[in-house]
Amino acid sequence: MDIDYLLTATRSARKSLDLDAPVDMGDIRECLRIGLQAANGSNQQSWRWLVVSDPALRDEIAELYRQSYLLRVGGQLLADLMPPGTPESRIMSSTEWLVEHLAQVPLLVIPCYQPYLPRIDGDESFHQATLYGSIFPAVWNFQLALHTRGYGTCITTLHLHREPEVGQLLGIPPAYVQGCLLPVGRLRAGHTFRPARRRPVDEVVARDRWDGPAL
Ligand SMILES: Cc1cc2nc3c(=O)[nH]c(=O)nc-3n(C[C@H](O)[C@H](O)[C@H](O)COP(=O)(O)O)c2cc1C
Repeated sequence: MDIDYLLTATRSARKSLDLDAPVDMGDIRECLRIGLQAANGSNQQSWRWLVVSDPALRDEIAELYRQSYLLRVGGQLLADLMPPGTPESRIMSSTEWLVEHLAQVPLLVIPCYQPYLPRIDGDESFHQATLYGSIFPAVWNFQLALHTRGYGTCITTLHLHREPEVGQLLGIPPAYVQGCLLPVGRLRAGHTFRPARRRPVDEVVARDRWDGPAL
C-alpha cells in the first residue's frame, strides 16, 4: 500500500467491518507487535493490552458502551432524527451503528497503561500528555498495521464513562488507565477508504505566533 495513502486513508471502520469474517489471531498478534514499536514516555512500556474475544464479555462491554453513549446524548438514539445526507448525520449513523453492533465485532482491544511518574502539584497537562501520549502512538501504529492487512478498527472512548465497570469485568488493576476501546474485524470484501477530508493546513497552521502568517 502506498504510504501516503495509508496515512491519509486509515479511517474509522464501523459499518465497513465484516461481523461474520473470522479474524486470524496471528495477524492480530503481528499488528500488535508493530503497534508496540511506537514511542512511549521514557520507553517505560508500562502497558497491558487486552484482546477481548469471549462473546459473553463482549456482550457486557457492549451494554456498558451503549449506556455510556445514551448518557452522552440524553437517553435516545439520534441518527434517525437528523436530516439525512449531511456529514453530521453520516457520522451519527455510523457511531450509532457501532453502538448497536459492538457485541458482534470479533475483537475488542483495550490498551491499558499504568502512569509511572510521581505526581506533583500543577502537573496535570504534563501528566495527561505523558499518559495518553504513551498510548495513542501505539494505537495508531496498530491501526495502520491492521489496515495494510485488510482489517479495520475505530478509536472509541465512549466506554470510559463506565471505565470502573469494564475494569472490574476484565480484572484490570485500579492503577491502570484504559486508553480507549478498539473494535477490530476484517474489512468487508472490496471495501476501500478514501482519504479523510480535513481542514486545510493554511487554515490551522501559523508561523511563530498564534496569529502569525500561514506557512
Ligand atoms: C480520541 C478519539 C475518541 C473517539 N471516540 C469515538 C467513540 O467513542 N465512538 C466512535 O464511534 N468513534 C470515536 N472516534 C472516532 C472519530 O469519530 C473519527 O476519528 C472522526 O469522526 C474522523 O473520522 P475518520 O477517523 O474516519 O477520519 C474517536 C476518535 C478519537 C481520535
